[in-house]
Amino acid sequence: MTNITEDIKTVLEFYQAMGIERIPLNTIQDTRYRIQDKKNHASCIMHRVSPLNSEQKKDALQALRDEIGDCQRCKLSKGRKNIVFGEGSVDAEIMFIGEGPGEDEDIQGRPFVGKAGQLLTKLIEKMGFKREDVYIGNIVKCRPPFNRDPEEDEISACSPFIRKQAEIISPKVIVSLGRISTQTLIGMKIPIGKLRGKFYQFENIPLMPTFHPSYLLRNPKDKWLVWEDAQKVLEKIRK
Ligand code: URA
Repeated sequence: MTNITEDIKTVLEFYQAMGIERIPLNTIQDTRYRIQDKKNHASCIMHRVSPLNSEQKKDALQALRDEIGDCQRCKLSKGRKNIVFGEGSVDAEIMFIGEGPGEDEDIQGRPFVGKAGQLLTKLIEKMGFKREDVYIGNIVKCRPPFNRDPEEDEISACSPFIRKQAEIISPKVIVSLGRISTQTLIGMKIPIGKLRGKFYQFENIPLMPTFHPSYLLRNPKDKWLVWEDAQKVLEKIRK
């Protein structure tokens, strides 16, 4: 019988020897191999190394948008003006993922365009990028009423789409903004104050949790912590 752990190790060592630090994902062609470690019941998903080029990424994102359609998968659809799909460069090195659209985003159909968005844009520019260089999305694509937190059923209905967007774009780093985004993507119900500042993994992509810009608008004294997290992100993408 083959030792599956040894097999995985061999494959990963090969990728490392080839200078590949991350294993890009290809969700479009269902090229996944689920490898079950029966001993400890842990499971991991290996993805074939076949990164999409820019055109394929654009097509894949458009196909995903088409799949979402005039979404009625959860109750947030009732009150929305626009679905906020996400925007930015398909070749982004950094992907920022927030919680869900607010009023301005709902009206414009674009992520992070209100006050919190202006602060996020400042951060992106301070990091040496233009807003168009990165990709910005949210865990839920429709505005929760009165800007309340998205509920579990809404997150479950919608989060598969941002996961697919992340896999398609395959950025060098994901920055999760705030508690909801971070807990959804890494699956740990730990306060954001404890999670921020350290790298986690989302499907082989390093993920840096940090405070949400709305939190910073209320607590500007914590801006330096986000800047510290941003430095770590810059270090990681320059490696
Ligand atoms: N807050 C979010 O989490 N996302 C937005 O798009 C705007 C505000």
